[in-house]
Amino acid sequence: MSASEAVTDALRELHARFAGVDEGRQADYIPELTRSDPDDFGLALVSMDGHAYSAGAADTPFTLQSVSKPFVYALALAALGLDEVSRWVGAEPSGEAFNAISLEPGTGRPANAMVNAGAIVTTALVPDSREEPAFGRILSCLSRFAGRKLDVDEDVHGSEAATGDRNRALAYLIRSTGSLPVDPVQAVDTYFRQCAVRATAVDLAVMAATLAYGGVNPVTGERVVSPEVAAQVLAVMATCGMYDSSGDWLLRVGLPAKSGVSGGLLAAGPARFGLAAYSPLLDASGTSVRGRAALGALSERLGLHLM
Ligand code: DON
Repeated sequence: MSASEAVTDALRELHARFAGVDEGRQADYIPELTRSDPDDFGLALVSMDGHAYSAGAADTPFTLQSVSKPFVYALALAALGLDEVSRWVGAEPSGEAFNAISLEPGTGRPANAMVNAGAIVTTALVPDSREEPAFGRILSCLSRFAGRKLDVDEDVHGSEAATGDRNRALAYLIRSTGSLPVDPVQAVDTYFRQCAVRATAVDLAVMAATLAYGGVNPVTGERVVSPEVAAQVLAVMATCGMYDSSGDWLLRVGLPAKSGVSGGLLAAGPARFGLAAYSPLLDASGTSVRGRAALGALSERLGLHLM
């Protein structure tokens, strides 16, 4: 069997194996997310030659939510460099939930850019001007990672804007420690918009593959970020991308990854592939149940564990 037949086979088999799993629940603290179809389940893998393999609902759109965080971190790193970004947000695993109050003792910085507190700071670091507003830069950066023009799901954005008081509270707390360089309301609104950017499992696999390929999108051939920035982002995904289950994930699956509460999940095999899943039923840490099971089994079956 050729390598590409083995990948196609594995995706189809794992899709069939986990499609019936109905544990977990949709996130409902953003009410609009409960309108997704709980049966949707897609898997995708993009190789370094830009070939996309998929199974199931891999072309169904959903909102990025926290899957946006590593890519906006990449944008901030590219604009400001690691030293400046690190003055505002750390790179240590918090071992806490995604929405925890994360303020490092002493500096007041959020622990890392993958938890909400750190992601709000990261978004606030993206350069903002009248000619080029921060959100325009973010949308264009996410689109270059995906290799196509992405858009915003206005209903999901409105739903989170209407209910997102916890994130607003986090932004005000961080502002009070001197760790937020802009107005909290503005930072959180831009952050909610980036979370509401719509993509598919295939898009997520391309985005992960772009990080895996040292910052070059393997489908379009465009360099999106430098190899240094891609490596920095993958490092933070490996240690912090799965919040309080980051250690267990690295132990069992062995790949830098990022989850989101709409059910998207991506993982990167440096210099090898980008991988993604979509299924809206979530476990207690906000990770897609079927996605976690399928990517874990795929890692085992194809020997993807980095260690
Ligand atoms: O800020 C929030 O709560 C959401 N927009 C994103 C959280 C999220 O995706 C957590 N990841 N699993």
